Amino acid sequence: MAETTDKTPIERKKIVLSGIQPTGTITLGNYLGAVSNWGKMQQDYDCIFFIADLHALTVRREPAEFRQACLGFFAQLLACGIDPAKSLLYFQSHVPEHAELQWILNCNTYVGEASRMTQYKDKSAKHADNINMGLMDYPVLMAADILLFRSDLVPVGIDQKQHLELTRDIAVRFNNRYGDTFTVPEPYIPRTGEKICSLQDPTAKMSKSDPDANATVSVIEDEATIVRKFKRAVTDSGNEIVARADKPGITNLLTIYAAITGKTVAEAEKEFAGSGYGTFKVAVGEAVAAAFAPIRADYARYLADKAYMAEVAKDCAQKASAFGRRTLDKVKRKVGLVSFK
Ligand code: TRP
Repeated sequence: MAETTDKTPIERKKIVLSGIQPTGTITLGNYLGAVSNWGKMQQDYDCIFFIADLHALTVRREPAEFRQACLGFFAQLLACGIDPAKSLLYFQSHVPEHAELQWILNCNTYVGEASRMTQYKDKSAKHADNINMGLMDYPVLMAADILLFRSDLVPVGIDQKQHLELTRDIAVRFNNRYGDTFTVPEPYIPRTGEKICSLQDPTAKMSKSDPDANATVSVIEDEATIVRKFKRAVTDSGNEIVARADKPGITNLLTIYAAITGKTVAEAEKEFAGSGYGTFKVAVGEAVAAAFAPIRADYARYLADKAYMAEVAKDCAQKASAFGRRTLDKVKRKVGLVSFK
């Protein structure tokens, strides 16, 4: 990928970048909303994906558990089809250019704009005993992640859109002040992206940090667990299997079934017309379990082969570092830092 980015913009593929925080495990929501799309984007773009381990430190973690979660996430991303022969996949903390660029961007970001971020306000309320600097600086690190590689497209969930807006503001401001330096990125919000909801509260997004284990399904769970969770999924009154605003539970299950099988929601409605809720829920659970079975098997294989993961992570980090360094050197020159190169 380092070679292609030397070409003119017409010749080179667009650069796609996204990160994922290593908390919990990859859920059905993450998979359908993000990771499965990342897999598809590898065909058409130069992709950079990383585990946002530095972002995850804004909340207190138990170190040994956190390290395991990070490695587990790496294995899960490989198992979900992120292919290191096509894309870069690494740990954010292994590429120091992310944090280095963040400092310079910090000096070009206003406290006012950072403190206005919705996620900062929400997280400050939720972790009132740990409102650390990192919590407010979180979107500036995200801006550094993105701007470091001159990313064109950034696949994000709707909840991260405001951070992307801030990234764009920082990029434009920097370019105006110091001359053209950064590519101003566009958000890429996939069609089905943000719609997968909790199995226990179908009006809320499925979140990997949900404390209710029955609310989420993970790509590495076994078939029996997945089917059981779907059997327990909260549904709506009535007995019709249709996607409708007053039926958030059934709508969510139809959305999941359609996305996982590649069918449309209308086709799914037709397929289950006349079925009872019970039969339908089991069918959705079985379809999800069948799709996740190979991921679960690959995950176990990768996790058992740490040497392979280390090789991939190191190689990708090295390439990302060399690529990011070019932007960083330019930024340093522009702001007037001395260079003896
Ligand atoms: N903040 C993102 C999230 O929680 C993860 C992330 C970190 C990210 N850096 C990024 C996403 C850069 C896109 C681009 O979902």
